[in-house]
Amino acid sequence: MLSFLFLSPLLFGVTAYSGDENDYYENHYGSDENGIRYSPSMQAFYDEHGHDAHLKYLTPNSFDLDVYRLTKRDGNSTDDKNSSNVFDYSENIVHGVNIGGWLVTEPYITPSIYWAAAETEGDQSTVPLDEYHYCEELGTEECQSRLQEHWDGWIQEKDFKQIKDWGFNAIRLPIGYWAFARLPDDPYASGQEEYLKNAIEWARNNGLYLWIDLHGAPGSQNGFDNSGLRDSLNWFNVTENYDLTLKVTYYLYNTYGGEEYNDVVIGIQNLNEPLGPKLKMSEVVRFNYNTYSQLRSTGSENNFVFHDAFQSMGYWDDYLTGSVDPKSTNYTHHNSSTPDYINATSFTDDDGDYYNTILDHHHYEVFGTGVLKLNITGHLLNVKSFAEGMKDEKHPALCGEWSAALTDCAWWLNGVNRGSRYAGNYSNPDGAIGKY
Ligand SMILES: *[C@@H]1O[C@H](CO)[C@@H](O)[C@H](O)[C@H]1NC(C)=O
Ligand SMILES: *[C@@H]1O[C@H](CO)[C@@H](O)[C@H](O)[C@H]1NC(C)=O
Ligand SMILES: *[C@@H]1O[C@H](CO)[C@@H](O)[C@H](O)[C@H]1NC(C)=O
Ligand SMILES: *[C@@H]1O[C@H](CO)[C@@H](O)[C@H](O)[C@H]1NC(C)=O
Ligand SMILES: *[C@@H]1O[C@H](CO)[C@@H](O)[C@H](O)[C@H]1NC(C)=O
Ligand SMILES: *[C@@H]1O[C@H](CO)[C@@H](O)[C@H](O)[C@H]1NC(C)=O
Ligand SMILES: *[C@@H]1O[C@H](CO)[C@@H](O)[C@H](O)[C@H]1NC(C)=O
Ligand SMILES: *[C@@H]1O[C@H](CO)[C@@H](O)[C@H](O)[C@H]1NC(C)=O
Repeated sequence: MLSFLFLSPLLFGVTAYSGDENDYYENHYGSDENGIRYSPSMQAFYDEHGHDAHLKYLTPNSFDLDVYRLTKRDGNSTDDKNSSNVFDYSENIVHGVNIGGWLVTEPYITPSIYWAAAETEGDQSTVPLDEYHYCEELGTEECQSRLQEHWDGWIQEKDFKQIKDWGFNAIRLPIGYWAFARLPDDPYASGQEEYLKNAIEWARNNGLYLWIDLHGAPGSQNGFDNSGLRDSLNWFNVTENYDLTLKVTYYLYNTYGGEEYNDVVIGIQNLNEPLGPKLKMSEVVRFNYNTYSQLRSTGSENNFVFHDAFQSMGYWDDYLTGSVDPKSTNYTHHNSSTPDYINATSFTDDDGDYYNTILDHHHYEVFGTGVLKLNITGHLLNVKSFAEGMKDEKHPALCGEWSAALTDCAWWLNGVNRGSRYAGNYSNPDGAIGKY
């Protein structure tokens, strides 16, 4: 490996890496002046398009939410202008399933691989909390080799066929930013994008649709273990992290949003579960506008998917609906020293409206004491009111994650070493419990 290290044309930046410098995988990465390491495909993308490509379509510099309180759609409008070959949510129902725990691991989905990384065998207090710590604990190289085995074996094309045979028509596929780019100190393994590409082919071969879902952003958008990094919320307020997120979304949109994928990719979700109640909602709104503009700027007419950020039903009716406000034509990067203006009205449909914007809600009945105490009638009423709220919203909406589980008994459902309410030993001073 050492000889490769010296021969590698992508050597620059390897010394910034805090782990094993002989790691073969490391040497397949290019890195920029900030030490951010790009996957080979993202590197190639940037070699072609330039590193600043993503910066063109960003935020208004003086942030005024009123600018975005746009006209609500009238009842006559449709959301699907000029998108004949883009999946139409108003005509089709999605019966989907998530392939969680594959390209982003979650301890509760695959406890075995997490147990195998315990510092002290059988002692859960020494089990890594999330994929970040899993790779940190094992070292990127060993992590790479173990995860590679997991990626190869855990989900295969035959599973896609099985999903189709069971009557589903869609798959939601979570993937973390680290599949595409890593911060200088990130211990993550990478190579997941090859499996994403396989998944798209497998979906296509088996008559399934596929949603790409960016499940983890740098610094973590929610502090959940399923974001890759638990107990951290350093996303929007760390420029490096926010910018890298936008580079990744731009790359995803540009790479997978094109017409050649319209038969299979039915949406690209900009971010899973940003934790609205703890983030600044204005920043989440801003992010959604940024990424909507990014998607359209690539020429993609595919569906822009965003999560409700744990806001109440109807909250998003005022955003990304109706016509693009002329005032919003003046955008700049949030780093105001690098202004870059765009004309947002060029991102509309023929009526001047935002289009193909899909709202993702998640619903669980297990993450809270109150809800766990409900009887079946109570649970059913919850689900009913959830569905009714969704029906009246202005965006086409769907429930992208849900579970019929009525207890939190699944091992590490609340996070590694946190116990469960079911067992009576749940502890988390914060009340944040892995998922809302
Ligand atoms: C909506 O449709 C109704 C009935 O076709 C029509 O009377 C009304 O003018 C339309 N509204 C708009 C804003 O186009
Ligand atoms: C509509 O879609 C077609 C085919 O994808 C494309 O050539 C055309 O430029 C689009 N028109 C507009 C107004 O976006
Ligand atoms: C960013 O904001 C979150 C709250 O949303 C806070 O917990 C975190 O400490 C902040 N990070 C920095 C670096 O300021
Ligand atoms: C956009 O904003 C910049 C900075 O505030 C300002 O200098 C420029 O005149 C604005 N352009 C338009 C078209 O409003
Ligand atoms: C803003 O951009 C300028 C020029 O690209 C750069 O020097 C500066 O460090 C950036 N500021 C932040 C907070 O990223
Ligand atoms: C923005 O684009 C639209 C449509 O191309 C055009 O009519 C409008 O004049 C542009 N506005 C600005 C400020 O350039
Ligand atoms: C379920 O709980 C509600 C109170 O939340 C109670 O009114 C109702 O009688 C209960 N139903 C059953 C079947 O126990
Ligand atoms: C919680 O209790 C269950 C059942 O006794 C036990 O298996 C588990 O290890 C406990 N978890 C913690 C974090 O103590």
